[in-house]
Amino acid sequence: MSDDQRVGPPTESAKSDEPFDHVPVMLEHIAAYFRDLPAGLVVDATLGGGGHAEAILLAAPQLQLLGIDQDDMAIGAATRRLAQFGDRVTIVNARFDAITEVVEAHLHTSHHRATPCLVGVLFDLGVSSPQLDRADRGFSYRQEGPLDMRMSRSQPLTAATIVNTYPAEELASLLDRYGDERFARRIAAAVVSQRPIETTTELAEIVRTAIPAAARRKGGHPAKRTFQALRIETNEELAILGTTLEQAIDLLLPGGRCVAMSYHSGEDKIVKDRFRQAETGGCVCPPKFGCVCGAEPKVRLLRRGAVKADAAELERNPRSESVRIRAVESVRFLPRAELAEVKVDAS
Ligand SMILES: C[S@@+](CC[C@H](N)C(=O)[O-])C[C@H]1O[C@@H](n2cnc3c(N)ncnc32)[C@H](O)[C@@H]1O
Repeated sequence: MSDDQRVGPPTESAKSDEPFDHVPVMLEHIAAYFRDLPAGLVVDATLGGGGHAEAILLAAPQLQLLGIDQDDMAIGAATRRLAQFGDRVTIVNARFDAITEVVEAHLHTSHHRATPCLVGVLFDLGVSSPQLDRADRGFSYRQEGPLDMRMSRSQPLTAATIVNTYPAEELASLLDRYGDERFARRIAAAVVSQRPIETTTELAEIVRTAIPAAARRKGGHPAKRTFQALRIETNEELAILGTTLEQAIDLLLPGGRCVAMSYHSGEDKIVKDRFRQAETGGCVCPPKFGCVCGAEPKVRLLRRGAVKADAAELERNPRSESVRIRAVESVRFLPRAELAEVKVDAS
């Protein structure tokens, strides 16, 4: 864990009464994955305002919850919301790739290292509505603000540094990789020629004019993909996701569950690949001959394919439009013959 990530109780600034207006996606469905777990510790690795955490704690009185977030505003909001659960809840300000250290610190003793100890982990990836809605956070192309985009305001790298210092090729590459931006090269060239760029709206206008007029009329706001790519780069979102999922799976007790909610294809691909790798244990034997390499499956899929929002959820919460939910259950120590798929009743 780097020095700028704090582990411990929320900071004073996080305790302020800033409003936190975020509608949790697929609340009932998510709580159902955790409802029947045995007594133990669940980690909510993306605590946000604590909406999912609250639903899990209400649905499953046998569970304790360790909430992680790197945003002091989220930590403040979740601390207030989850106070009703007293010592069933611990909240930590950290980046989720420190999950193993955070869990170990919570358990207080070093001899728990590498010992599975969790009954559940939840990842509700990406940004919260308050992060997007507050102009001063710099995530929104619609409102004027500084080019910030940091989830953790104690991290040194901001979107302004990326926009104003990365070489054109590097900018184009990240717009392509993280934003699927067709006009990545044109946008990168325009950005480099108009530096320094200080505000979100300044950047949005540069992106808009760099895109051919005919393309501007399709696919939402012309700066949407650029802002997504910059946000992902600023927060290393995809760079740390795969290894964090691996850590989470390794921390699970047999029967423990890991649930991940993704909001764009890059995220979902990483979740799908890591879950699949854990399901096969890395086995590459041709299926028709059966496994001879001795790879050990770590999980089974709770459902093949991703769950999407239904019509009622879409109506209730437009943010759910892009959600893809995947879930696995730890099968460590279970004989192969018992590794059938199981379905979760999310009613
Ligand atoms: C979609 S919101 C979660 C909302 C939450 N489920 C709720 O019900 O309020 C995602 C949260 O995860 C946090 N987050 C994203 N990536 C993170 C990371 N790598 N480490 C820690 N927190 C992260 C963000 O700061 C944000 O508060």
